[in-house]
Amino acid sequence: FAPPLLAGKRVVITAGPTREALDPVRYLSNHSSGKMGFALAEAARLAGAEVVLITGPVALESPKGVRRVDVTSAQSMYEAVHREVAGSDLFIACAAVADYRPAEVQPHKIKKDASLEQDSMQITLVRNPDIVASVAALADKPFVVGFAAETRDLLSYADDKRRRKGLDLVVANDVAATGIGFNSDENAVTVLGENLEQAFTQASKSIVAGSLIELFAQQMGAGER
Ligand code: C5P
Repeated sequence: FAPPLLAGKRVVITAGPTREALDPVRYLSNHSSGKMGFALAEAARLAGAEVVLITGPVALESPKGVRRVDVTSAQSMYEAVHREVAGSDLFIACAAVADYRPAEVQPHKIKKDASLEQDSMQITLVRNPDIVASVAALADKPFVVGFAAETRDLLSYADDKRRRKGLDLVVANDVAATGIGFNSDENAVTVLGENLEQAFTQASKSIVAGSLIELFAQQMGAGER
């Protein structure tokens, strides 16, 4: 009898997009259905882990047995992650976090009247914190996995991201390919680590999530007993 791969492990996962408010009715955001992050949360739960799923606004039901924390902006996702990540064994950053937010949030709806003479308007953006890099920089850090959605030079950009952000593994995702990524129900990914390159052929996000969780568990040494 073998215990489930992640029994006794605490896993924190981010999923979905973030929304960066411009005014009370408008925001900047990214494409992200949250499906991959939710599938990973479910797979980690099935592998016996205690799972915290920190998600931006998505139209998905929470997987059974997973604790869900809803957030909106990158800043609120950052704060939720740092409240939850202490003592965790595995952190998976699957969220499509907005890299920038409007420098100011207007207290009232921006009126187009104000800029009628102008064909353009300018919005100043400021950088959001990099959540996954901040977790990878913790003194007592969990095993850290990031995602890299790229439209070209997938593996080299993804590996560059892994090194720059101090990730243990990066999951490279070709979002230019049709039928995978973004809102799709299927995905095909390649996982890169210091001495690892493993491809997973196109399958449903739940199948891919199961394979990924197995690989993460193996790479973090959780499978060794
Ligand atoms: O730099 P890029 O956004 O492409 O990196 C993707 C990876 O970094 C994903 O794992 C994403 O969840 C994470 N990320 C983050 N905080 C940010 C930006 C990206 O955690 N502000």
